[in-house]
Amino acid sequence: MNQATDYLAMAREWQATFDAIQDAVMILDPDYRIVRANTATASFLGVPPDSLVGARCHQLFHGKDCPNEGCPSRAALRSNRHEEAEVFIEAKGVWLHVSSDPILDAAGSVTGIVHTARDITERKAARNALIESQAQLLALVESTLDMIWCVDPKRFGLMMFNTGLKDYFQQHRGIQIEPGMTPDQLLPKRSTAQWRAFYRRALREGPFVTEYVTTSETHVLLLSLSPLMRGAEVFGISVFGRDITALRKSENQLQQLHERLAHAARVSALGQLTSALAHELNQPLGAILTNADAAELLLQSTPPALKEVRSILADIRKDNQRASEVIQRLRRLLKRRELQMVPLRIEEIIQETVALLRSEIASRKVSVRVEVTTGLPPVAGDRVHLEQVLLNLMVNGMDAMDANPPEARRLVVRASHSDERTVAVEVSDCGHGIPADQLSRIFDPFHSTKREGLGMGLAISRTLIQAHGGGIEAHNNRGPGATLRFTLPALSAPEGEAG
Ligand SMILES: Nc1ncnc2c1ncn2[C@@H]1O[C@H](COP(=O)(O)OP(=O)(O)OP(=O)(O)O)[C@@H](O)[C@H]1O
Ligand SMILES: [Mg+2]
Repeated sequence: MNQATDYLAMAREWQATFDAIQDAVMILDPDYRIVRANTATASFLGVPPDSLVGARCHQLFHGKDCPNEGCPSRAALRSNRHEEAEVFIEAKGVWLHVSSDPILDAAGSVTGIVHTARDITERKAARNALIESQAQLLALVESTLDMIWCVDPKRFGLMMFNTGLKDYFQQHRGIQIEPGMTPDQLLPKRSTAQWRAFYRRALREGPFVTEYVTTSETHVLLLSLSPLMRGAEVFGISVFGRDITALRKSENQLQQLHERLAHAARVSALGQLTSALAHELNQPLGAILTNADAAELLLQSTPPALKEVRSILADIRKDNQRASEVIQRLRRLLKRRELQMVPLRIEEIIQETVALLRSEIASRKVSVRVEVTTGLPPVAGDRVHLEQVLLNLMVNGMDAMDANPPEARRLVVRASHSDERTVAVEVSDCGHGIPADQLSRIFDPFHSTKREGLGMGLAISRTLIQAHGGGIEAHNNRGPGATLRFTLPALSAPEGEAG
């Protein structure tokens, strides 16, 4: 009796132990029939515990008439050994880790299977997520031509590297790199010390960026080094390296190009100065020659007309003076961008220019009319330059009317308010006008339609007007001829002078 009570107690204890196991544990006979199952099995399947005994395992778990191909119990029945597998239960969408252990009799034949199933759905999902994120990280690291690697913090041996680094070593050093390789194995002797110094600096100071020229001086790399941390422990040093050789080369080429351009600009400024001087000196030199010829004629008369000769000599001196002023001021403007600005009355500029051109106007039989709005404010300007601009425009106007009969050679010079703060000066002729397709080009240097023309008059005029903060433009008249118009910022008239 006592013994019977003991057995009963033992059986209860065993059952309690069996039921305490969280995994679904079953004992199967060789025909996959359930001999015993714990409560975890019943609750996993959602059936009462006593309905399990006698049912077939594959029927209950998979709803099938025979065990699956990958069933570990089937394998254990065949191999007489422990077998395990991950099994998917479709009906529940659950992954189980199933272990099947054969129960052997004294003769070594299988009398049953202990079938233990553990729900690993969450673990598997977490593992998949990890695998996925590792795959993404790998793809990220491989998606660049840059070199990415890390080394251990002691020997500086390679821990991980991407294809970028692998290819670089393959191509440039003919080395097939492998994890564990140290600077001594990877690099020429001369540069190992430098690389160790880089790694040590990253360990000592933290992240930094540096440029590295390879010992053969054929490549320039931009490196970014950082210690790799796990918690407080440094487990490596990462390096991101970019080959910037091509970039440096093109930067150098760009620099050279800049230097060449700057040189070309200096040369062309010199050319501009020469051409501008040639252009602007033409008029005073011509006047000097004409006057010298006239003086010679006067000296040949008897008695020599000394008084007139003296006045001609004064004119020659004036023209000479003007020529040297033109040279000085043009040089100053083109070389140092300097203007001698003073307040000027525009009507005086016009009168003086007309006076300068007096003999030319007379010999070309041109009539010149000057129209100035009263009460114009003064402008700030360089007298000689503004006179040269007006002179260029008037000479162009006269040129354009060369083919006209004398009575149709009329030049009008107008000065008026463009608006309150701007004074406008216009030179209108009755000449052949400017073909529409050339209107935008006439201010370009060396653009000329004249046989003897340099094509510099308008280019110089535009430079001068712009230096004064003004603008210049051209249009054809409604009637015959063209009008060239420039504007200058007005000075507000000093008090008491207004009106
Ligand atoms: N008033 C005008 N009427 C018609 N065409 C003009 C007029 N002014 C300028 N042009 C055109 O613009 C061109 C450029 O003028 P610009 O004064 O710059 O040079 P240019 O007179 O030809 O030569 P130069 O350097 O001797 O002055 C002229 O060749 C001419 O075709
Ligand atoms: Mg001209």
